Amino acid sequence: MAMTARDAIQIRVGTLADGEAVARLLVTMGYPVELKSAEERMRELVAHADDNLVLVATVGIVVAGVVAGHLIPMLQQEQPLGRITALAVDEDQRGLGVGKRLLAAAERWFAERGVSRIEVTSAEHREQAHEFFRKAGFREQRLRLVKNRN
Ligand SMILES: CC(C)(COP(=O)(O)OP(=O)(O)OC[C@H]1O[C@@H](n2cnc3c(N)ncnc32)[C@H](O)[C@@H]1OP(=O)(O)O)[C@@H](O)C(=O)NCCC(=O)NCCS
Repeated sequence: MAMTARDAIQIRVGTLADGEAVARLLVTMGYPVELKSAEERMRELVAHADDNLVLVATVGIVVAGVVAGHLIPMLQQEQPLGRITALAVDEDQRGLGVGKRLLAAAERWFAERGVSRIEVTSAEHREQAHEFFRKAGFREQRLRLVKNRN
Protein backbone atom coordinates (compact mmCIF):
# COMPACT_ATOMS: atom_id res chain seq x y z
CA MET A 1 0.00 0.00 0.00
CA ALA A 2 1.26 3.46 -0.85
CA MET A 3 2.37 5.67 2.00
CA THR A 4 0.16 8.73 2.40
CA ALA A 5 0.67 11.93 4.35
CA ARG A 6 -1.74 10.61 6.97
CA ASP A 7 0.39 7.50 7.53
CA ALA A 8 3.45 9.66 8.07
CA ILE A 9 1.95 11.51 11.04
CA GLN A 10 3.54 10.43 14.32
CA ILE A 11 2.42 11.54 17.76
CA ARG A 12 4.87 11.62 20.64
CA VAL A 13 5.39 13.29 23.99
CA GLY A 14 6.90 16.74 23.60
CA THR A 15 10.41 17.26 24.99
CA LEU A 16 12.51 20.32 25.77
CA ALA A 17 14.13 19.91 22.36
CA ASP A 18 10.74 20.75 20.82
CA GLY A 19 10.65 24.14 22.55
CA GLU A 20 11.57 26.14 19.47
CA ALA A 21 9.12 24.35 17.18
CA VAL A 22 6.34 24.67 19.73
CA ALA A 23 7.06 28.38 20.18
CA ARG A 24 6.86 28.82 16.40
CA LEU A 25 3.46 27.08 16.29
CA LEU A 26 2.13 29.29 19.07
CA VAL A 27 3.36 32.38 17.26
CA THR A 28 1.36 31.33 14.19
CA MET A 29 -1.70 31.25 16.48
CA GLY A 30 -1.10 34.91 17.18
CA TYR A 31 0.45 34.60 20.62
CA PRO A 32 3.49 36.84 21.14
CA VAL A 33 5.56 33.95 22.41
CA GLU A 34 9.25 34.38 23.09
CA LEU A 35 11.43 31.36 22.61
CA LYS A 36 13.15 31.54 26.02
CA SER A 37 9.92 31.84 27.97
CA ALA A 38 8.21 29.19 25.86
CA GLU A 39 11.08 26.84 26.65
CA GLU A 40 10.75 27.62 30.34
CA ARG A 41 7.02 26.91 30.34
CA MET A 42 7.66 23.74 28.41
CA ARG A 43 10.19 22.71 31.08
CA GLU A 44 7.56 23.34 33.78
CA LEU A 45 4.92 21.30 32.01
CA VAL A 46 7.27 18.44 31.20
CA ALA A 47 8.38 18.40 34.86
CA HIS A 48 4.73 18.06 35.95
CA ALA A 49 3.77 15.32 33.58
CA ASP A 50 1.36 13.74 36.10
CA ASP A 51 -1.28 16.32 35.36
CA ASN A 52 0.07 18.04 32.25
CA LEU A 53 0.26 16.74 28.75
CA VAL A 54 2.28 18.10 25.86
CA LEU A 55 2.17 16.06 22.67
CA VAL A 56 3.69 16.96 19.35
CA ALA A 57 2.86 15.60 15.92
CA THR A 58 5.65 15.04 13.46
CA VAL A 59 5.44 14.62 9.72
CA GLY A 60 8.84 13.33 8.69
CA ILE A 61 11.32 15.41 10.63
CA VAL A 62 8.99 18.42 10.88
CA VAL A 63 7.11 19.20 14.07
CA ALA A 64 3.73 19.87 12.51
CA GLY A 65 1.52 20.39 15.52
CA VAL A 66 1.20 20.53 19.26
CA VAL A 67 -1.50 19.87 21.81
CA ALA A 68 -1.33 20.71 25.49
CA GLY A 69 -3.72 19.49 28.12
CA HIS A 70 -4.23 19.75 31.85
CA LEU A 71 -5.96 17.59 34.41
CA ILE A 72 -8.08 19.62 36.82
CA PRO A 73 -9.13 17.98 40.11
CA MET A 74 -12.72 18.84 41.05
CA LEU A 75 -14.07 19.33 44.54
CA GLN A 76 -17.63 18.40 43.63
CA GLN A 77 -16.99 15.24 41.64
CA GLU A 78 -14.62 12.35 41.62
CA GLN A 79 -13.60 12.54 38.01
CA PRO A 80 -11.13 15.26 37.13
CA LEU A 81 -11.90 17.69 34.35
CA GLY A 82 -9.75 17.56 31.23
CA ARG A 83 -8.82 20.89 29.72
CA ILE A 84 -7.22 21.30 26.31
CA THR A 85 -5.07 24.39 26.79
CA ALA A 86 -3.53 24.68 23.34
CA LEU A 87 -3.81 23.06 19.94
CA ALA A 88 -1.99 24.31 16.89
CA VAL A 89 -1.09 22.82 13.55
CA ASP A 90 1.41 24.36 11.17
CA GLU A 91 -0.41 26.28 8.46
CA ASP A 92 1.28 24.21 5.74
CA GLN A 93 0.14 20.96 7.35
CA ARG A 94 -3.51 21.71 8.02
CA GLY A 95 -6.31 19.59 6.61
CA LEU A 96 -4.18 16.42 6.67
CA GLY A 97 -5.52 14.97 9.90
CA VAL A 98 -2.73 16.22 12.17
CA GLY A 99 -5.10 18.10 14.50
CA LYS A 100 -7.45 15.13 14.64
CA ARG A 101 -4.64 12.75 15.60
CA LEU A 102 -3.36 15.13 18.28
CA LEU A 103 -6.81 15.59 19.76
CA ALA A 104 -7.50 11.84 19.72
CA ALA A 105 -4.22 11.18 21.54
CA ALA A 106 -5.03 13.85 24.13
CA GLU A 107 -8.50 12.36 24.59
CA ARG A 108 -6.94 8.93 25.20
CA TRP A 109 -4.59 10.41 27.80
CA PHE A 110 -7.56 12.00 29.59
CA ALA A 111 -9.63 8.81 29.36
CA GLU A 112 -6.83 6.79 30.96
CA ARG A 113 -7.00 9.23 33.89
CA GLY A 114 -10.72 8.87 34.43
CA VAL A 115 -11.79 12.15 32.89
CA SER A 116 -15.47 12.22 32.00
CA ARG A 117 -15.58 15.72 30.50
CA ILE A 118 -13.09 17.56 28.32
CA GLU A 119 -13.30 21.26 27.67
CA VAL A 120 -11.53 23.68 25.44
CA THR A 121 -11.79 27.42 25.39
CA SER A 122 -11.30 29.25 22.17
CA ALA A 123 -11.32 32.87 21.12
CA GLU A 124 -14.51 33.88 19.30
CA HIS A 125 -12.61 34.71 16.12
CA ARG A 126 -11.14 31.21 15.69
CA GLU A 127 -14.13 30.02 13.76
CA GLN A 128 -12.30 27.32 11.83
CA ALA A 129 -11.13 25.87 15.14
CA HIS A 130 -14.72 25.82 16.39
CA GLU A 131 -15.73 23.83 13.32
CA PHE A 132 -12.86 21.44 13.93
CA PHE A 133 -13.94 20.87 17.56
CA ARG A 134 -17.63 20.55 16.64
CA LYS A 135 -16.67 17.83 14.16
CA ALA A 136 -14.80 16.09 16.98
CA GLY A 137 -17.96 16.07 19.13
CA PHE A 138 -17.45 19.20 21.24
CA ARG A 139 -20.49 21.41 21.89
CA GLU A 140 -20.84 24.87 23.34
CA GLN A 141 -21.93 24.61 26.95
CA ARG A 142 -22.23 26.85 29.96
CA LEU A 143 -21.53 30.47 30.51
CA ARG A 144 -17.95 31.45 31.13
CA LEU A 145 -17.22 34.61 33.09
CA VAL A 146 -13.71 35.96 32.84
CA LYS A 147 -12.00 38.83 34.63
CA ASN A 148 -8.73 39.98 33.13
CA ARG A 149 -6.36 41.13 35.84
CA ASN A 150 -4.30 43.44 33.67
C1 LIG B 1 -7.94 23.92 14.27
C2 LIG B 1 -6.70 23.16 13.78
C3 LIG B 1 -5.90 22.67 14.99
C4 LIG B 1 -7.17 21.95 12.94
O1 LIG B 1 -6.05 21.16 12.61
P1 LIG B 1 -5.96 20.35 11.23
O2 LIG B 1 -4.78 19.45 11.33
O3 LIG B 1 -6.01 21.26 10.08
O4 LIG B 1 -7.32 19.53 11.28
P2 LIG B 1 -7.55 18.06 10.66
O5 LIG B 1 -6.94 18.01 9.31
O6 LIG B 1 -7.16 17.02 11.64
O7 LIG B 1 -9.14 18.06 10.52
C5 LIG B 1 -10.00 17.21 11.26
C6 LIG B 1 -11.42 17.42 10.83
O8 LIG B 1 -11.82 18.77 11.09
C7 LIG B 1 -12.19 19.40 9.88
N1 LIG B 1 -11.68 20.77 9.83
C8 LIG B 1 -10.42 21.18 10.07
N2 LIG B 1 -10.31 22.50 9.88
C9 LIG B 1 -11.55 22.89 9.48
C10 LIG B 1 -12.07 24.13 9.08
N3 LIG B 1 -11.31 25.22 9.04
N4 LIG B 1 -13.38 24.20 8.73
C11 LIG B 1 -14.17 23.10 8.73
N5 LIG B 1 -13.70 21.88 9.09
C12 LIG B 1 -12.42 21.80 9.45
C13 LIG B 1 -11.54 18.61 8.77
O9 LIG B 1 -12.26 18.73 7.57
C14 LIG B 1 -11.57 17.22 9.33
O10 LIG B 1 -12.83 16.62 9.07
P3 LIG B 1 -12.96 15.03 8.78
O11 LIG B 1 -12.66 14.37 10.07
O12 LIG B 1 -14.38 14.92 8.36
O13 LIG B 1 -11.98 14.73 7.72
C15 LIG B 1 -5.82 24.04 12.87
O14 LIG B 1 -6.61 24.62 11.88
C16 LIG B 1 -5.09 25.17 13.60
O15 LIG B 1 -3.98 24.99 14.11
N6 LIG B 1 -5.70 26.36 13.64
C17 LIG B 1 -5.09 27.54 14.23
C18 LIG B 1 -4.91 27.40 15.72
C19 LIG B 1 -6.23 27.26 16.46
O16 LIG B 1 -7.20 27.95 16.17
N7 LIG B 1 -6.23 26.34 17.43
C20 LIG B 1 -7.36 26.08 18.28
C21 LIG B 1 -7.32 26.95 19.48
S1 LIG B 1 -8.69 26.65 20.51
